[in-house]
Amino acid sequence: MKDLWGARFSKSASDAMRALNSSIAVDSRMWREDIAGSLAHSSMLAKTGVLSEEDKERIHAGLDGIKADIESGALSIDPTAEDIHMFVEGELTRRIGDAGKRLHTARSRNDQVATDLRLYLRGEAEIIGKQLRCLLETLCDTASAHTETIMPGYTHLQRAQPVTFGFYMTAYANMFLRDLRRLAECQARLNQMPLGSCALAGTTYPIDRDFTAELLGFEKPCDNAMDAVSDRDFAIELTFVLALTSAHLSRFAEEIILWCSSEFRFISLDDAFATGSSIMPQKKNPDAAELARGKTARVFGDLTTLLTMIKGLPLSYNKDLQEDKEAVFDAVDTVKLVLAAFVPMIATMTVNKENMLAAAQSGFLAATDCADYLVGKGMPFRDAYGVVGNLVAFCEQRGKVFETLSLGEYREFSELFAHDIYGIIDLAACVNKRRSFGATAPERVEEQIGLIREHLK
Ligand code: ARG
Repeated sequence: MKDLWGARFSKSASDAMRALNSSIAVDSRMWREDIAGSLAHSSMLAKTGVLSEEDKERIHAGLDGIKADIESGALSIDPTAEDIHMFVEGELTRRIGDAGKRLHTARSRNDQVATDLRLYLRGEAEIIGKQLRCLLETLCDTASAHTETIMPGYTHLQRAQPVTFGFYMTAYANMFLRDLRRLAECQARLNQMPLGSCALAGTTYPIDRDFTAELLGFEKPCDNAMDAVSDRDFAIELTFVLALTSAHLSRFAEEIILWCSSEFRFISLDDAFATGSSIMPQKKNPDAAELARGKTARVFGDLTTLLTMIKGLPLSYNKDLQEDKEAVFDAVDTVKLVLAAFVPMIATMTVNKENMLAAAQSGFLAATDCADYLVGKGMPFRDAYGVVGNLVAFCEQRGKVFETLSLGEYREFSELFAHDIYGIIDLAACVNKRRSFGATAPERVEEQIGLIREHLK
């Protein structure tokens, strides 16, 4: 095969060099963006008089034909082409001759690839944004249905204070809402156009970059040509947003896995999001959640790949940058795949309220409320804390819980206890009294759901 740059070379590339250099297997997925960029670029060249109107018409007809043929399957992308840019340009020239060779005027693959990648990631970010919104809607719906479903809240994975399942779901919703907003900020920075930066220094042709940017729906052209062809911050930032989203999904997945276990039995997953065992007939495994947790590792890996790729790069374009796509595509594909299963897994899970309540009833979760009760009757908090500590030790020795202690037993620890203590240690009362802004009381959770839904509008 003769190389494009054959004129200057005395030999063609070796097979090993060709294999190393080729990126078509990874970048062919950007064919639509590559064609869109070329359509806009040639329109701009015609508008500024760099290209004749007739050549532009030929180029557009040729590119439209290539697009239609790839779509219909009539044209398959040649796996031996170096990259998608070379393939499209080569195919265009094969179809329309000289006009095709004029397309690359006032352009380089350096600004072309950076533009294609931004266009491609813009579309993917949009899809992931929709999936995150869907997850948030699902969490809000689940939270709404469970503002009074009592469960233990934990610190150190030890039962701490009673909360509601609705409160728990809004906690996760707040994490994912931050992810959605981070994504939006990243999308704004992503939406600037490198095209027209050419190889690194701009061009002598009288191009109109604002016009191309407008055609492609970019907010504006990138300000500095040298930066624009070597900048991959947009890909790294998007991968970071995806890595953090994955970390959040992974935390959530871990809880789901725990909650499905026989030790917790707080929830059951729908059969559609679980798998069985090839040997143990009784098994139902939470694979969707486990994979959400497991796939997080590769997204972290993708972020590390990208950061490491740029850390020693001098300006401007270096071929190292070709490695960006595999990593960022993997991050995008992985998060899309995980969210597509995760959202319906949450939407269809069964919440076992009785088991949640039973767990909340056996961990002295009202201990703080019990101490606050004594404080209300005049005892200093540290003393009250000590009294309730003794009470818990007493219960543990006798196999009792606060609810089953007699008033006489209470009064052995403090004369301040009276019959109203039973209303205080009631778990629903504990939850309902936590009415501070952001707290677990049902009306406060309703308020939190409202805030999230407001953002989603
Ligand atoms: N396939 C290349 C990439 O992905 C396109 C840009 C090549 N530019 C160059 N000067 N060789 O980065």
